[in-house]
Amino acid sequence: MNGLAISPFIAALPKVELHLHIEGTLTPSLRWELAHRNKITLPYATFEDLKASYAVTLNHRPELNGRQPGIPTFLEAYFAGCEVLRTEEDFYDLAMAYLRRCAEMNVRYTEPFFDIQAHTRRGVAATAVLDGYLRAQGDAKCQFGVRSRWILCFLRDEPVAKGLAAYVEARPWAAGTVEGGKGLFHAVGLASNAYERPPMLFEEGFALAKADGLHVTMHCDFGQKDTHEHMHEAIFQVCDGHGSERIDHGLDAEDKEELWQGLVDRKIGLTLCPHAYHRRTATDVLFPKIRRLRDRGVKMCINSDDPTLMHDVWIDGNMQKVYTYCEFSKAEMVQLVRNAVDMCWAEEDVKSAIYKELDEINVLE
Ligand code: ADE
Ligand code: ZN
Repeated sequence: MNGLAISPFIAALPKVELHLHIEGTLTPSLRWELAHRNKITLPYATFEDLKASYAVTLNHRPELNGRQPGIPTFLEAYFAGCEVLRTEEDFYDLAMAYLRRCAEMNVRYTEPFFDIQAHTRRGVAATAVLDGYLRAQGDAKCQFGVRSRWILCFLRDEPVAKGLAAYVEARPWAAGTVEGGKGLFHAVGLASNAYERPPMLFEEGFALAKADGLHVTMHCDFGQKDTHEHMHEAIFQVCDGHGSERIDHGLDAEDKEELWQGLVDRKIGLTLCPHAYHRRTATDVLFPKIRRLRDRGVKMCINSDDPTLMHDVWIDGNMQKVYTYCEFSKAEMVQLVRNAVDMCWAEEDVKSAIYKELDEINVLE
């Protein structure tokens, strides 16, 4: 859907991905394979039926738009996919498949989100999830040259206390100043259904992470109920009034000067996922909005969110969309990647290597 052919320039561009849910990279074929491996019966008779189920659903927000009987919401489809992930090997295979694909798309560095609660609430051991991702983090660096620092997300539609408990359980796999921390995740995020779940509810979780020397980011979904209030909290109130370090999506800031000016003044970057919005927004509304935010000085980078549930449009397809529809020049596309390097939480030597590659691109060709 709306998939554009990837130009040689976009394909070759070194990339950095900062907004990607690892569970949203589960392909129908890996899901099919894991279902068989774990002896799970999927509610699809054939692989073709399973594949067809990925043509998800524009009714992303049933609270706002009503339910379509028999059709799952986006997040229901996403969490249903998680069912097949049971063992450390499953989480490892999921992560390696994405990180291998990163190498193919010239993604040098990525900060994947993971939803630990989506698995522990099904009875999966936290160690299976965390050790699977940790092993993939190390192997992908050695085998593919792809670096990653991961982000633990609180599920915002679950009770806050459950999120805090999940954080405490996962803490030995953190980086920051956690003594003996294994270095898997360097930040916390806030994901899942934002309906009547504003960021400030999770202030205690952000404080725990900050006290451990971790970074903080949070989703402010596009078109969500109370979207401007959520953005106001994320920019001005969370983290003891310092605001979030980044905001995931956050496109609605364009509507209010106070918000976009707040992003500029506080140097809070947006991790945008253009295809996620393009699924339900007209081209001539969406891309001028992105351009206007950029022109006002809001820092932004381009990402894919949940590519297998979003018509198989990955980071290269998302970059192609802004290249085509925002009519950005090659130099402006390189700047979007530079923004991602500025916004990321990689080691300095990893950042320097990517900046150097970007400096060497001939944007005049
Ligand atoms: N978790 C996974 N995908 C998500 C999305 N697109 N929005 C909010 N939370 C998510
Ligand atoms: Zn997201």
